[in-house]
Amino acid sequence: MKKGELLYSGKAKSVFLTDDPGQLILYFRNDTSAFDGEKVEQLNRKGMVNNKFNAFIMERLAAAGVATHFEALLSETESIVKRLDMIPVECVVRNIAAGSICKRLGVEEGIDLEVPTFEFFLKNDALHDPMINEYHIRSFGWAGADEVEIMKSRTFEVNEILKALFREAGILLVDFKLEFGRYGDAILLGDEFTPDGCRLWDAKTREKLDKDRFRRNLGRVVESYEAVALRLGLDVDLPVTSAAAQ
Ligand code: TMP
Ligand code: ASP
Repeated sequence: MKKGELLYSGKAKSVFLTDDPGQLILYFRNDTSAFDGEKVEQLNRKGMVNNKFNAFIMERLAAAGVATHFEALLSETESIVKRLDMIPVECVVRNIAAGSICKRLGVEEGIDLEVPTFEFFLKNDALHDPMINEYHIRSFGWAGADEVEIMKSRTFEVNEILKALFREAGILLVDFKLEFGRYGDAILLGDEFTPDGCRLWDAKTREKLDKDRFRRNLGRVVESYEAVALRLGLDVDLPVTSAAAQ
């Protein structure tokens, strides 16, 4: 497989075409951004750690029956994925109150929710990713009713799978964001699952182990991502050896 032209560059990843029209290469950069791109820094090793972290989680999800775009690790910082027609909404599930919901509803950080809650956001940095509901999604044609239902049920399904995975490592999955896309008639999980797009707290101390360390200048950002990986059984220092990398 040959790497082609740059298709798109986001805040933390770049997407390249390949000689296969159905496949793309995701390149995880060291750029780390917060507050819709207002704060950006280069964090050494982050691209490599997130590439391997994402591959590990996507493989676990696939093994648990969740269809994803992930195909294989290509290099230390790159992965091969299926080319999706992305739906421009972000699906957020929360188990514990933190982040924007605390500001929006005036609730205290750390409250355990009675049941997980779900929110849609429009993927639009210029508008600061406004919260939207499923009527907006259908009215503006961003996705159909069936697609909305699939995104919701899949996100809750991912929550159950990953809550259990992190719980075994002594980590609380506080909240996370997923993005989906169309692949033929199927809706697949796209984008990434890394500590950049979720909140993870140590179950005993409730220490923050995710991108809130960067947002709040707590230090040891990538070290913390690596420590989470190790607790899950993933050693990011092992070189990539997948067939695609040969
Ligand atoms: P929030 O508290 O800022 O609404 O975010 C909830 C979770 O979703 C948090 O883990 C961060 C993640 N998220 C992103 O990664 N990118 C986004 O653009 C949004 C809206 C949320
Ligand atoms: N909105 C997300 C955050 O605040 C992503 C970003 O802005 O880079 O982390």
